Amino acid sequence: MQTDFLVIGSGVAGLTFAIKAAKQFPDKKVLVLTKTHADETNTKYAQGGVAGVIDFKNDSFEKHIEDTLIAGAGLCNPKVVELVVKEGVDRIRELIEWGTQFDKEQDGDFKLGKEGGHSEFRILHHKDVTGQEIERALLAALNHYKNIEILNHCFVVDLITQHHLGYLVTKSTPGIECYGVYVFNQHNQKIETITAPITLLATGGNGQVYRSTTNPSIATGDGVAMVYRAKGRIENMEFIQFHPTALYEPGVRGQSFLITEAVRGDGGILRNVNGEAFMERYDERKDLAPRDIVARAIDNEMKITGTEFVYLDVRHIPTDKFIEHFPNIYEKCKSIGIDVSKDMIPVSPAAHYSCGGIKTDEWGRTSIDYLYAAGECASTGLHGANRLASNSLLEAMVFAHRCYVDAKDQIDKNKVEQLSIPEWNASGTTHPKEMILITQSLKEVKQLMSDYVGIVRTNTRLVRAMKRIDLLWEETESLYETSTVSPQLCELRNLITVSYLIVKGAHFRKESRGLHFNTDHPERAVLVQNIVL
Ligand code: FAD
Ligand code: SIN
Repeated sequence: MQTDFLVIGSGVAGLTFAIKAAKQFPDKKVLVLTKTHADETNTKYAQGGVAGVIDFKNDSFEKHIEDTLIAGAGLCNPKVVELVVKEGVDRIRELIEWGTQFDKEQDGDFKLGKEGGHSEFRILHHKDVTGQEIERALLAALNHYKNIEILNHCFVVDLITQHHLGYLVTKSTPGIECYGVYVFNQHNQKIETITAPITLLATGGNGQVYRSTTNPSIATGDGVAMVYRAKGRIENMEFIQFHPTALYEPGVRGQSFLITEAVRGDGGILRNVNGEAFMERYDERKDLAPRDIVARAIDNEMKITGTEFVYLDVRHIPTDKFIEHFPNIYEKCKSIGIDVSKDMIPVSPAAHYSCGGIKTDEWGRTSIDYLYAAGECASTGLHGANRLASNSLLEAMVFAHRCYVDAKDQIDKNKVEQLSIPEWNASGTTHPKEMILITQSLKEVKQLMSDYVGIVRTNTRLVRAMKRIDLLWEETESLYETSTVSPQLCELRNLITVSYLIVKGAHFRKESRGLHFNTDHPERAVLVQNIVL
């Protein structure tokens, strides 16, 4: 199959790019691939909203830039921060033109929320289901373009580069080029070849590396792993953001329900199991300190009190006000017997967001030619060592736009139709006889990453983690070489690769900065640097 613009992923980044490319080039074909359903994305689960400078009376670009830089702990690229904050306003307007409904006051002004690390109220939201509303609006907007096709249940396995034409490609090979992808089509269980002069990776995050995560099951870091295998550049993978307040539900595996930070923006207070409001002991911004600080404080309180959770207390917020802003959270709590007007909500930190990823420049170009990356899978320089709340939807839109602007000038340069790209070679492989080999290794990855590479790290734990990852890697590679491809096996392989990159980054960073905290190196180093792998 051949297309003009190939988009891997149907979250906010992929769909924004697809709509723009389809509108600009009605005669060209835009193909969007997703590994499950089009709306099963991290985007759909976003709660708090999109940060943007809308209220110029009280807010300013300078303040949003400053807040982003402070959260990023010295590692943001100031040029990228400025362009995202400034261009973000136009992208938000576009989102509204495409049909997204953000909550408004009675006078017609947008209702703006506040979250940790923000000095002003600047979060546009749709109740507590902002992502669902954005995903809905983007998918509806997409329907206007006949030249966009979405193929669901198509799992991208690998990028096609010169390697597949028989050339030796290493990390130091100049001019690596992307010609498309190999895809496992779950409808016919076959690997298909899709070529394109322009490929965008918008594959989202990797929260599934950990046992407890707010991310849905699709978040397995596939884009990052594919680029690493194709010898592209990955950076800052050690900066995994743990959201401080995922709902604590013993026995629930997979995706944890999020209690948005906007609840603390509306006055929610964190208390330990003894009922003590503890955040004032950790930071003068108390419950609205940046996420790394709040998550570490909770981790510490849980260790001191020997519990697996703390409480979020919203009993003092008028219930009708709570229900108006957070109907989804209210219902979820009610469904498990928590009456938020009387009971405190048990919460604990969970893996939430990957600040690092595929290294891009300010146009979303990766180190591989004709391959772009946008959204959570990319490392653009915006977040540095810690993402400011609600900056990721904004970043995804700004960079999807920038990728499109650059790609429209590149599309005619990559002559993929002149290449003879080989079909996928599955000779010598058979169906794995024991699925337990895959499921057990998956459990082991999550276990070791949660125990050794979580919120607080030490040198010894990192060394242990790497030894175990090496073993899992060896076992999984030999399984992969002899097995027919399946999404489960590919995801395991990708999660192991991503774990390796997180541990490697954490090992090289001999300091504590932002989301990376190592008790053997508790201070910030003098030399500030990105770790590129
Ligand atoms: P996603 O929306 O995750 O989409 C990924 C797409 O890639 C999917 O379509 C998937 O099928 C596809 N894909 C992945 N791998 C493959 C493969 N191998 N083959 C084919 N397709 C593939 N950010 C904010 O700014 N504000 C918030 O309020 C907010 N709240 C959040 C709440 C939750 C619970 C979570 C989990 C995240 C939240 N975030 C928030 C973060 C934000 O939602 C994500 O970073 C963002 O939506 C990512 O968008 P994306 O387009 O990069 O990827
Ligand atoms: C939240 O609503 O707390 C999540 C916001 C984000 O991750 O940016």
